[in-house]
Amino acid sequence: ETKPRIPILWLHGLECTCCSESFIRSAHPLAKDVVLSMVSLDYDDTIMAAAGTQAEAIIEETIKKYDGNFILAVEGNAPLNQEGMSCIIAGKPFLEQLNHVAEHCKAIISWGSCASYGCVQAAHPNPTKATPTHKAIKTNKPIIKVPGCPPIAEVMTAVVTYILTFERFPELDRQGRPKMFYSQRIHDKCYRRPHFDAGQFVEKFDDEGARKGYCLYKVGCKGPTTYNACSTIRWNEGTSFPIQAGHGCIGCSEDGFWDKGSWYARL
Ligand code: SF4
Ligand code: SF4
Ligand code: F3S
Repeated sequence: ETKPRIPILWLHGLECTCCSESFIRSAHPLAKDVVLSMVSLDYDDTIMAAAGTQAEAIIEETIKKYDGNFILAVEGNAPLNQEGMSCIIAGKPFLEQLNHVAEHCKAIISWGSCASYGCVQAAHPNPTKATPTHKAIKTNKPIIKVPGCPPIAEVMTAVVTYILTFERFPELDRQGRPKMFYSQRIHDKCYRRPHFDAGQFVEKFDDEGARKGYCLYKVGCKGPTTYNACSTIRWNEGTSFPIQAGHGCIGCSEDGFWDKGSWYARL
């Protein structure tokens, strides 16, 4: 309680803002407690009160005051083609802002599949050359990837809570994801798994098997190759997750999503 709140600069590149939408719905801890009591969210152009030059000045003030001691959170990614012209922030390419802030931060959180891997903007043929954070920045700062489109709210706030409590990243896997949330496949803890093991599959949507809650593998479920915590933590305060709603996992937290996981990829 007596610790100074660590400043966070939350930047937005090419994204849809649903990572932010997810974050603000965290119930444990409540997002408001994270933002008001645990961190100092000094810059987030989507939800901050300041705008225009006033907002831009906050980035420079934070860098000056906390050089090397603040966290950079990135939502979305940077387009590299046409000198970054497909995403302009404050009159300059987002790529410039990202590199500038990355140079001065202590560590980087890549929120969601956009920042972690590229996601839909980087889908073939990726006309803007949308590029994830670790490939777009020039500095060698520690990066934690929290993939998902979006990531689960409580996973996002848990990552922040862990960093604040232990003053380090949680243990990461080879891809840079926190093992505590990404070491198991959706398939490993899926409640439809007994149907998979018994060879009971939905053959097409709305068939008898679908009504009985059979396994969705044959209608495209990517749960067996997707590492995420949806089948354990679930969404909306643990209420449900895509498979529970009747649709297979589309692998939204995996590298290569959208090209590899979507229905489009099956056509
Ligand atoms: Fe939106 Fe998905 Fe990108 Fe998050 S990862 S900003 S939810 S498109
Ligand atoms: Fe695995 Fe998907 Fe079947 Fe669940 S619905 S058991 S994740 S293949
Ligand atoms: Fe995404 Fe699959 Fe979870 S589509 S939300 S990783 S069940």
